[in-house]
Amino acid sequence: MKPIIAIDGPAASGKGTMARMLAEHFRFAYLDSGSLYRAFACIELVLSDKSAVSLNDKAEKEENHNLHLADLSEDYDFTHILSDTLKEAEKNKKKIDFSSYTAHTKFFSEDTSGAREFISIAKKIPDNILKSEIVGTGASTVGKLPEVRALLTSLMREFASSPGDKYLGTVIDGRDIGSVVFPNATCKIFLTADLKVRAERRFKDTKNFGDTSATFESIYETLRSRDERDASRSIAPMTYDETHIVVDTSNISIKEAFNKLVNIIDLRLHNA
Ligand code: DC
Repeated sequence: MKPIIAIDGPAASGKGTMARMLAEHFRFAYLDSGSLYRAFACIELVLSDKSAVSLNDKAEKEENHNLHLADLSEDYDFTHILSDTLKEAEKNKKKIDFSSYTAHTKFFSEDTSGAREFISIAKKIPDNILKSEIVGTGASTVGKLPEVRALLTSLMREFASSPGDKYLGTVIDGRDIGSVVFPNATCKIFLTADLKVRAERRFKDTKNFGDTSATFESIYETLRSRDERDASRSIAPMTYDETHIVVDTSNISIKEAFNKLVNIIDLRLHNA
């Protein structure tokens, strides 16, 4: 098995930025596990759309035969349904009730061949939808469902078992990567920062994306409640133990955090 670097931490702690930079530096593949949970929330949104009823019927009838995931992306204009649903919610200031989700795990084949398909679906969803805070909240809510966690955990393990010839290992970021998905990862990091600092960084990002509707206070509150949900769920809560190295980035720059992590990982890779 090629080495695995697990990076966990709360929302907007900079895990994604660090993980991407580290993957490039070490010539590792990068897997953003949050985007898998986010994609799952998006799929649930699409399936809860009225126009997806026929697909749901089809799944009921073929209960014992998993529907091929490709059916989903072929039959439905994902982006269209998603952006309409989100626009509608925004226009009416309507909260999407992700808590009523039932997890359509039957759409996913149990065998591991589903991993690449799922990842390719996640990649098809435009970033402004996938990375939106509303989809983040949805991901955090569907992430409480045991069947969703089991499915995505097996997809991640499959991915890291063969990241591709050109990669020397895998960097994965999330909430439970070092604690549950890869407890024996070569290096386990818990990246964190003060909630206020994280909210300020996210606020700046949303403004840079051209989103002027979110206020600092609303972002602060959304991150706070997402962290609370992620840390308090009964299965695979966000946590760390003495096998993780905790890095607090509240008072350091991206460059300083990166250099610090490179040193830590270098040491681990040489001693592995
Ligand atoms: O890292 P992120 O903000 O993109 O993750 C979005 C949500 O997905 C997060 O609030 C909780 C869920 N998630 C999870 O439960 N487990 C993971 N390993 C990654 C994300």
